[in-house]
Amino acid sequence: MSQPIRKAVFPVAGLGTRFLPVTKAQPKEMLPLVDKPIIQYGVEEAVASGVSNIILVTGRGKNAIEDHFDVSIELETFLESRGKHDLLAEIRKISNMINFAYVRQGEPLGLGHAVLVARELVGNEAFAVILGDDVIDAAPPALSQMIKVYRDLDGPVLAVEKIPPEEISNYGVIDAVPLGGGVFEIRDLIEKPSRTEAPSDLAIIGRYILTPDIFGALDTTGKDRTGEIQLTNGLRHLLTRRRLYAYQIDGVRHDTGNKLGFLKAVVYFALRRPDIAAPFREYLQSIDIDRLVTR
Ligand code: UTP
Repeated sequence: MSQPIRKAVFPVAGLGTRFLPVTKAQPKEMLPLVDKPIIQYGVEEAVASGVSNIILVTGRGKNAIEDHFDVSIELETFLESRGKHDLLAEIRKISNMINFAYVRQGEPLGLGHAVLVARELVGNEAFAVILGDDVIDAAPPALSQMIKVYRDLDGPVLAVEKIPPEEISNYGVIDAVPLGGGVFEIRDLIEKPSRTEAPSDLAIIGRYILTPDIFGALDTTGKDRTGEIQLTNGLRHLLTRRRLYAYQIDGVRHDTGNKLGFLKAVVYFALRRPDIAAPFREYLQSIDIDRLVTR
């Protein structure tokens, strides 16, 4: 019998260099898609998937994330005194429903290292890893789709997506056998292969269901050429000991960790918002794109 998934690890200790200069003094996870920080989309997805213990692996300059999910007595008192009950409910919703725990990754030594740092807080149980950069609009929520696959197969499940050849070298890529229904059994995984080395067009995206034996596998995973411990390499070790699965999520993913992906996500989520969609659509249709584009 598979264990229930109770905890989700959010590694947020990366430096966000692709988003400089805005990330110099502000975490990229706090950039808003309309009026909600990117990280909150991932946390809401976890909660909607029945996972309400959130472990954030943080680093230097990430205090704004902790403050965001903390109770703000001053703000609540202010909103109450002004009778702004809708906003008050929205603010309380964030801090009320979830258990947060924080652990520091002293140095950003890679995603695999960030997962290792959460070891004590996760303990000996299966858990989820959510990379907040990947914001996924899906019904049912992306993580709950993966939990279903994990329950059926009783093994680790990685989310994958078909990626065009020119972008494949930015991802971990799997070699896999289809089992039907968007599920695959993994034969091998390669971190950031060149276009010609990539064993398929199926790239690992920011959702994982992992079992606690990943920690032992990461212990024995050395640093790569860049000095980082890669989660993909840890999973490759684990593959010598157990079966790993991949699943193509039914939903729309935005990689908000780069500028273009972020801009697309802002437009997408603004058009999905009932309070703003109509005037925003009107504005977009009114733009004379040819006049604006710099040549
Ligand atoms: P990325 O490489 O996409 O994010 O890592 P980054 O390092 O913040 O951004 P760039 O590449 O410099 O622009 C994927 C995820 O893993 C986390 C990041 O915060 C991000 O959510 N991460 C990465 C850590 O928590 N620790 C690390 O050492 C590396």
